[in-house]
Amino acid sequence: MELPQFNPTPGNDSASAADHQLNDSVARIRVLVGDITSLDPSLGIDAIVNAANESLLGGGGVDGAIHRAAGLELRKHNQTLGGCPTGLAKGTPAFGLEKQGIQHIFHTVGPIWPPEDQSEQEQAAMVPGAPIDDSAKLGYTYADTLLASCYMQVFALAVQHNIEHLAIPAISTGVYRFPKPRAARIAFGHAHGHLLRAEIPNKITFVCFSEQDAAYYHDAINTRGQWMVSRGRI
Ligand code: APR
Repeated sequence: MELPQFNPTPGNDSASAADHQLNDSVARIRVLVGDITSLDPSLGIDAIVNAANESLLGGGGVDGAIHRAAGLELRKHNQTLGGCPTGLAKGTPAFGLEKQGIQHIFHTVGPIWPPEDQSEQEQAAMVPGAPIDDSAKLGYTYADTLLASCYMQVFALAVQHNIEHLAIPAISTGVYRFPKPRAARIAFGHAHGHLLRAEIPNKITFVCFSEQDAAYYHDAINTRGQWMVSRGRI
């Protein structure tokens, strides 16, 4: 599913260059529903992001899917990397995914929610599946800054490797329980900010595993004029 592309009013010369740049940045961002390990090769995706754990040796969720698709060579290669701290990222070859045109996998380790800056009592009170209190102002928890760092790290790897089209899953929103609407705003906000400043990657596609997950990204994008400006409570 592609986002409705934001088109500047044709022939409207009064629109500022900044407006066009803004529009261009949003137009280079897409959201689709699918499995990041079996994307349509015609999309021209040349790097995918993995939501890994600090060992980089695989696990469940998208990490497990990527390791299965890339094959054992990926695990063997990652055994030489010495792991990766939360909030950082490391690039590897795509191994078994190269047949789909993917050249690189950028493994990044997202934060676990609730954020560490919640009190022990608050965290102890968390029961599995309980609603997660994400009333804190966006960007003002330690977990928010770690998740933002993941995105900035993979964008830096994309620039380093001259990536044309980068596909990214919803980092930290599965096993790590980061609230999905909050994560979508952090993901979009930093992708938008990067594309305002950089030509590489030319395109970023957020790959969601369900329509509901994609809806969080669409909402984040369609309401960007509110929360990105005010940075108010979400
Ligand atoms: N393609 C795209 N998205 C996927 C896929 C897939 N094949 N599989 C899962 N997802 C989605 C999940 O639905 C979720 O929205 O990726 C998002 C991230 O969920 P997880 O994979 O659970 O990753 P995360 O929450 O970051 O937790 C990382 O889980 O799998 C382990 O080894 C991993 O310990 C690490 C932890």
